[in-house]
Amino acid sequence: MFNHILNNDFVDIVKGRRSVRHYDENFKISREELSEIISEASLAPSSANMQSWRVVVVDTPEGKEKLKPLVRFNTLQNDTSSAMLLIFGDTDSYLYSEEIYNTAVEQGKMPAEVRDNQLETILSFFPTLSKEMKVEIAKIDSSLFAMQLMLVARAHGYDTNPMAGFEADQLARTFDLDEERYAPVMMISIGKAKVEGYESVRLSADKISFWR
Ligand SMILES: Cc1cc2nc3c(=O)[nH]c(=O)nc-3n(C[C@H](O)[C@H](O)[C@H](O)COP(=O)(O)O)c2cc1C
Repeated sequence: MFNHILNNDFVDIVKGRRSVRHYDENFKISREELSEIISEASLAPSSANMQSWRVVVVDTPEGKEKLKPLVRFNTLQNDTSSAMLLIFGDTDSYLYSEEIYNTAVEQGKMPAEVRDNQLETILSFFPTLSKEMKVEIAKIDSSLFAMQLMLVARAHGYDTNPMAGFEADQLARTFDLDEERYAPVMMISIGKAKVEGYESVRLSADKISFWR
């Protein structure tokens, strides 16, 4: 992790991020580096550390061709990006809870009693939640992961575009995932910018804050 960081300037990473829709189609990010970007983004927080985010990395011409009919008006990103990252929320992420918490104990990051208490709560609570709640939790976790991934990408010298414009009802099935388990969250294109994104405006803090 953090072997390919080109930009460590926090203000530049955050302030300079723009949605980039046109990339250098000849530039390929290696799978090794994409895996590193995914690992770094996975340092995001998540509900009970269940890490519900899952990513389908579409970086082959065949994969891009499969994705093409599902991306609506986002064809330029699909055609020119180094990869399209399809972010899903795993509604059964609690199935990894024992692995996660046992590893924390093995690595000396958590006392065994804390693990036992946490696991008892998770395993008696998560499976009983409604489908709607499971999807909501998975989408919140995955959105935090997605944001972190976009900033990590900038630190690696790349740009991104988050996209909700896609055929959500077909995404999991098209890429051989169980559509009952994996909820589509967003697509993120990633690559070397060919055309810079434009600067956009934000509402002021007083418009979006309620002080009590
Ligand atoms: C959830 C979400 C969905 C979006 N969907 C699309 C999309 O389908 N296509 C697109 O070109 N941009 C999409 N965007 C990008 C927004 O238009 C962009 O983030 C916004 O205009 C602010 O610009 P900036 O990202 O350059 O700061 C999406 C952004 C978010 C967060």
